[in-house]
Amino acid sequence: MTTMPHYVYIETVGCQMNVLDSEMVVASLRQHGYQLVDSVDQADTILFNTCSVRQHAEDKIYSALGHLRRHKQRNPEKVIGVLGCMAQKDQRRIFERAPYVDLVIGPGQLQQTAELIEAARAGGGQQLAVSLGRRDGPREEIRRSHETFDPLRDPAMRPTPFQAYLRIQIGCDKFCTYCIVPMTRGPEQGRPPDQIIAEARLLADQGCQEITLLGQTVNSYRDRSGGRTTQLADLLVALHEIEGLARLKFVTNYPKDMTVDLLQTVRDLPKCSHYLHVPLQSGSNRILQAMKRGYTVEEYREMMARIREILPDAAVSSDFIVGFCGETDEEYQQSVDLVRQCRFKTSFIFKYSERPGTKAAELLPDDVPEEIKRRRNNELLSLQDAISEEENQAFFGRTVEVLVEGPSHVAQKRGDDGDVLQLSGRTMCDRIVVFHGPRRLVGQILPVAVLDCTAHTLIGEAITRPTTPELVPLGLKRGVASDFSASGG
Ligand code: 5AD
Ligand code: SF4
Repeated sequence: MTTMPHYVYIETVGCQMNVLDSEMVVASLRQHGYQLVDSVDQADTILFNTCSVRQHAEDKIYSALGHLRRHKQRNPEKVIGVLGCMAQKDQRRIFERAPYVDLVIGPGQLQQTAELIEAARAGGGQQLAVSLGRRDGPREEIRRSHETFDPLRDPAMRPTPFQAYLRIQIGCDKFCTYCIVPMTRGPEQGRPPDQIIAEARLLADQGCQEITLLGQTVNSYRDRSGGRTTQLADLLVALHEIEGLARLKFVTNYPKDMTVDLLQTVRDLPKCSHYLHVPLQSGSNRILQAMKRGYTVEEYREMMARIREILPDAAVSSDFIVGFCGETDEEYQQSVDLVRQCRFKTSFIFKYSERPGTKAAELLPDDVPEEIKRRRNNELLSLQDAISEEENQAFFGRTVEVLVEGPSHVAQKRGDDGDVLQLSGRTMCDRIVVFHGPRRLVGQILPVAVLDCTAHTLIGEAITRPTTPELVPLGLKRGVASDFSASGG
């Protein structure tokens, strides 16, 4: 235990897993007497939790580290650490590129962060803690070296205390040819159900209303401990029982494992969100095969049909990679067609970025020019945006249930500090909704009438509780306050 107070600054990039990992690291550092600060200048420990999924994410971190060179020269006692996927991928190369970095800690070793900071501060030199590579020993040993430390929860570190991520699965064994994740996060392993359920109870006791279960391929979740197999659907049934929880979400899904059983479970459990993120990646069978995604466009379409049949109101979103090795214009057009046909709520579209250590980097030339990648990216994005806006327009005049998260981006940017301001929240289907209201609504679930929209946001007006059978829109913009119940109608 450290006795002197320490001050940690942490910057997090990348996926939800990283956001969760940062929460755990901060929770553990707090137990060691650290306080979280929001600038490098106030900190004696500066941490970057990094992402390797695309080159761009790494460039940003190396550039941020570059900016710290002078800072470290002036403040040699400060400890600088690189955590997460880039640490696991680049290992000692980080020390070579930025010799003033003190710590390099992979995602499977984050539980050692406090100890390693101490060692560096005590003059022990640069500290490296990474997990085993995918070929560095027996599978069981590799698996264990990538285990994460999840039970430490710190509501103060979450963007909102009433929402939390909960990891149910670590790593990935799908080995899509473009993807670095199986290398940085190790073999796919489900966490035991009793641990997951205990953590969900702890979160509910802390006042958490919405849990998002995390896994790289969350619907492939399997645990075989105790002589029985537990799947995602079984977990949802168990978690559904927990009092206090109002919403259960899960990301990211693998198309092949979107089973009828899972969809029916989601349909039958009222706390389950009908939001499904199921990345397609490409609309071309040749590209899907080159990516080793394990399904065809036809199979994906069948999956969409199953979703539409069982959960007609589901909001489905997807990821696409444009400009993958050898992607022709016709093949790209097939992705365009699929975006048109599937009418996703959102698509996240990425330009292919070659990742050293992947099969694609080894075997397939990254031969689509940057200019074409950019054009395809922009084009697909604007098509998706147009569809998203049309889908949002279908909500005009409807009332949605919103879990209020806090001041909207606009209110934050403007620095609004009044009591009534633009608030932002999400529907059960993960649609962002903004409306005017008093701050005390944050953390509540309440009905909002949708009046307008953009491609990514529904714009509405909060509705009072029905004191009469009729719903009465509130004139909150005009400063009329009113009472909402905690659990909205
Ligand atoms: N280049 C571009 N996009 C990638 N993704 C994963 N690896 C790469 C890569 N090498 C995208 C996929 C995935 C999302 C999280 O990131 O679309 O679903
Ligand atoms: Fe990467 Fe494919 Fe695993 Fe997703 S399923 S994490 S894209 S290897």
